[in-house]
Amino acid sequence: MAKIISVGKGLSKYNVVISRNALTHKNVMVGLKDKNKILVVTDSGIPKSFITDLKKILKNKKKIYVYEINKGEKSKSFSTYTKILSKLADLQFDRSDALVAFGGGVVGDITGFCAATYLRGIDFIQIPTTLLSQVDSSVGGKTGINIAQGKNLVGAFYNPRLVLISTKYLETLSDDEYKSGLGEVAKYAFIGNKKLYKYMQENSYLIKLRKPQALETIIEESIKSKAKIVTADEKEKGLRAILNFGHTFGHAIEAFKKYKGITHGAAVTLGMVIAAKISLYEGHIKTHQLDDLVNLLESLELKTDYSKYSYKNLKKYILNDKKVSKGKLNLILINQKGVAFKTDKYNLNNLKKALN
Ligand SMILES: NC(=O)c1ccc[n+]([C@@H]2O[C@H](COP(=O)([O-])OP(=O)(O)OC[C@H]3O[C@@H](n4cnc5c(N)ncnc54)[C@H](O)[C@@H]3O)[C@@H](O)[C@H]2O)c1
Repeated sequence: MAKIISVGKGLSKYNVVISRNALTHKNVMVGLKDKNKILVVTDSGIPKSFITDLKKILKNKKKIYVYEINKGEKSKSFSTYTKILSKLADLQFDRSDALVAFGGGVVGDITGFCAATYLRGIDFIQIPTTLLSQVDSSVGGKTGINIAQGKNLVGAFYNPRLVLISTKYLETLSDDEYKSGLGEVAKYAFIGNKKLYKYMQENSYLIKLRKPQALETIIEESIKSKAKIVTADEKEKGLRAILNFGHTFGHAIEAFKKYKGITHGAAVTLGMVIAAKISLYEGHIKTHQLDDLVNLLESLELKTDYSKYSYKNLKKYILNDKKVSKGKLNLILINQKGVAFKTDKYNLNNLKKALN
C-alpha cells in the first residue's frame, strides 16, 4: 500500500506518494492530467531504462519531451538554467504545460527553479531517484542554482504539484550516494523523530541491505518530519532552520574540499557529529547521547571521524555560511530531550574545542 503524506497549506498543498513503485499511470495523472505538453528534465547518470518506463507510463500524452543535463553539481548553473528556459520557449510551453524533475537533487533544484520562473511560474512534479532527493530535496519547495560566489545563492520557494517516490530506484544507486541520503535520514532522527531513531537503531542491518520495507519506513518517517516542519514554516522564518542541523559544518567541509571527494550527506554527517559535540560542551546533552548518535551513524557505516578538519581550516567557510545573521553565526544544537533548536548564545571556545 502506498503511503500518502500531505505537505503545505492552501493552494500550494501537494501530496507525496511513497511506495516501491509510486510511478503508476494513475498516480502520475493526478499531477499531469490537465497538462498538454510535458518536458522531463533528467541527467546523464540516471539509468536509461527509467526514462523508457516513464515514457510508457505517460503514453497517452503525445507531447513528451526529454531534456538531459550532464550529471553532477556543475549542472546546477546559470548556463544550464538558461538552456532549459530556451528549450521551453522554443517548444512554446505555456501555463497549460508542465515540467517533470526526474533525478536527484541537482535535477530537482534546477527544474523547480525553471518552473518557478518560466512565465512567472508553471507547474512541475518531482520524481526523485536518489535517497537524498527522496527524503529531502524533493519536498519543501526550495529550488535554485549555484553561482560562482556560492551554492544555492539564487533560487525561489516554489512547491511542486506532486512528489512520487519509488523506492525501487534506489537499487541502482551507488553506495556513496545511498550513504549520502542516509546521513539526511539520520538527521530527522536526531532533530526529534524518536520513532525513526528507534527504528534505525533496531534495523540498521535491513537499512544497509536496502530492504524495500525498511526503505519505505525510513523515507515515510523522514518525509513526515520534513512535512511537519516546512508546512509550519514555508519560507524559513523560524522553525525550518532546525533542518540545517549539521549543515553549517557540513557546508564548510564541502567548500574546504572544493566540493570534491565528499558527498553532501557525508559532509552533513560529520557536521552533525561536530554540532552534537558542541551541544555536549554547552551542557545541552549528556555524553551517552553523543555516543548514541555516533553509534547510530557508525552502525550504518557512515563516517564520523572529522579529525582532519580543524577550526583553522573551516573558519573562513563557517563564517561565510548563510546562517550568519547580524555578524553572529547561528548554530543548530540539540538538547537532552532530543529536540533541535537554533541559538546564537554559545561560547565560541566550545565551537573551537569541538573542532580541535
Ligand atoms: N532543495 C532542497 O531542499 C535541497 C535539500 C538538500 C539538497 N539539495 C541539493 O541536492 C543536490 C544533491 O542531490 P543528490 O544527492 O540527489 O545528488 P545528484 O542529483 O547529483 O545525484 C547524484 C548522482 O546519482 C545519479 N543518480 C540519480 N539517481 C540514480 C539512480 N536511481 N541510480 C543510479 N544513479 C542515480 C545522478 O546521475 C548523479 O550522478 C545538491 O545540489 C543540493 O544542494 C537541495
